Amino acid sequence: MCGIVGYLGNSNTKEILLNGLKELEYRGYDSAGIAILDNGAFYSNKAIGKLHNLEEKTEAFNSKGFSLGIGHTRWATHGKPTEQNAHPHYGTDTYIVHNGIIENYQELKSELEKGGVRFNSQTDTEVFVHLFEFYQKSLGNYEAFQKTLKRVEGAYAILLITKNSETIYFAKEGSPLMLGLKDDEKFFASSDAAVLGLCNDVHFFEDGEFGYVDAKGFHIESSESKDIAFQHASLADDKISAQKEGYRFFMEKEIYEQSDVLADTLRGRVLDSGISLQELDGEFLDGINEIKLCACGTSYNSALVSSYLLERQAKVRCSVEIASEFRYKEPLLLKDTLFVVISQSGETADTLEALKMAKKAGLKTLAICNVDNSSIVRLADKSILTRAGVEKGVASTKAFATQVAVLWMFTLFIAQQKSTLTKDELKQELKTLRAIPKAAIVKDELHEKVKRLSKRYLHGHGFFFIGRDLFYPLALEGALKLKEISYLHAEGYPSGEMKHGPIALADPELFTIALLSENILFEKTKSNMEELGARDSTMCCVSSHFYDKADDFIKLTKYDHYMLEFYEMMVATQLLSMEIAVRLENDVDMPRNLAKSVTVE
Ligand code: G6P
Repeated sequence: MCGIVGYLGNSNTKEILLNGLKELEYRGYDSAGIAILDNGAFYSNKAIGKLHNLEEKTEAFNSKGFSLGIGHTRWATHGKPTEQNAHPHYGTDTYIVHNGIIENYQELKSELEKGGVRFNSQTDTEVFVHLFEFYQKSLGNYEAFQKTLKRVEGAYAILLITKNSETIYFAKEGSPLMLGLKDDEKFFASSDAAVLGLCNDVHFFEDGEFGYVDAKGFHIESSESKDIAFQHASLADDKISAQKEGYRFFMEKEIYEQSDVLADTLRGRVLDSGISLQELDGEFLDGINEIKLCACGTSYNSALVSSYLLERQAKVRCSVEIASEFRYKEPLLLKDTLFVVISQSGETADTLEALKMAKKAGLKTLAICNVDNSSIVRLADKSILTRAGVEKGVASTKAFATQVAVLWMFTLFIAQQKSTLTKDELKQELKTLRAIPKAAIVKDELHEKVKRLSKRYLHGHGFFFIGRDLFYPLALEGALKLKEISYLHAEGYPSGEMKHGPIALADPELFTIALLSENILFEKTKSNMEELGARDSTMCCVSSHFYDKADDFIKLTKYDHYMLEFYEMMVATQLLSMEIAVRLENDVDMPRNLAKSVTVE
């Protein structure tokens, strides 16, 4: 989610770091910072907001001759986007940049605090630097670095520099990192966009690899091998395609990224003992008897998904409001209601105004949002970040996936507080929750199949996406995606409701995309599909259960929990919209008439 860069050589280190960060800004931009070791002395600076703030602050500094440095652009996950929480983090004589999440940081932090260490930030990252300096007292730098790596759990790409050595130490586990070489220069980056044009001989680190670089060379190893060979890979041709990391569109990249960002969303929050949401302290939910969810667009659809989960699993009364409607309906707002707003950007005007109304009425408020320090996060009493990273495609994909995951965690958090699930049931739900990143992986066969069959669905007079239970809001989201980027008319409908009017539209030119769950209301949904089939609607069935009466069939994995089916179906419908839009030669990432963030009413 964040971007990191590093450099060692004779060029202007500051310029190389800042230019690299500029290329990575699309990944996160709430703050940035650099640290440079120049002739035995450190220079470091940080700034909140966009990168030009850091450029202005560092204007007066320039290194001369040989130097080394590290830089970071941040997308807040632990701690607010403040200067203190910006990277690089530091100890006495050491600086570090980190992308990822150190899951056991609380435990390590308490241990270090007991030993007298004082922390400068609220981040998980800072533990690494203090732990390193602790081990450095009795060990050499590299040994101390390795020992620190052994203690941290979670995901990381790390660059570390320390005063007594002109060396950059690195490690990679679960977050991307690469090393580029050109003559005597060494470049590090979390994505190749940062080093395009600077070097073209690179090594993409695998999980578990670590080592160091200095003026003499480099060393890469892992627990399996003491000496890992440099890959000598080459890079993409231009910057935009480097940012897209080989995908045709940002939307495609974001669909493929969902599995990884879901893992980030869950990290540190799904424990063996239950759900841990530090954002909601023990008393926050006391006295709450009802939950009102409010949002727009895709975020509204994720709210609707969670309304099924909240009533079913947490046994809490729940209603869902479209923000633009809510504002003017003179809603009855009772103080025992928790008002939850959901927003990717945190800036949507209608959602923000609805939140203000709820606050004015004295309700407790919670924001589920992807952007820390956004207007909505600042205004709400509490907030839970979805950790999806920057979403560039206007049609939202990974933001939706992570919203649903957070809302499900929130549901289970209440369920465990109210004991509405038995211990065994809760355990089962936690196990399933942990499995959703896997269910969201894009399988080659699935993508190929969707690509092939998309050509049948380009013309006709409209689409119905149908489903039951929480597959109904998924149908709404599927239809919304298709509308947004294909400009074809599509509606999401509850399967059982088709017979009350819409079925009058059925003929071969009406396309039905049927989301057939094997775990929820299978027979009932099937009957609804048969009703449509009997009226000659062209049908594509998305299911793990083969349905022989459909014209097309998108085969999914068989799961024993509806949420795993949900995530794979979500991927299938996203791909379908995208492939139809591609065939229609539309602009997938920037569809006409739409905006990523709608800050007007
Ligand atoms: C716009 C976007 C949608 C988004 C909606 C709500 O219409 O195009 O993709 O779902 O706003 O945005 P939010 O940032 O509040 O989730």
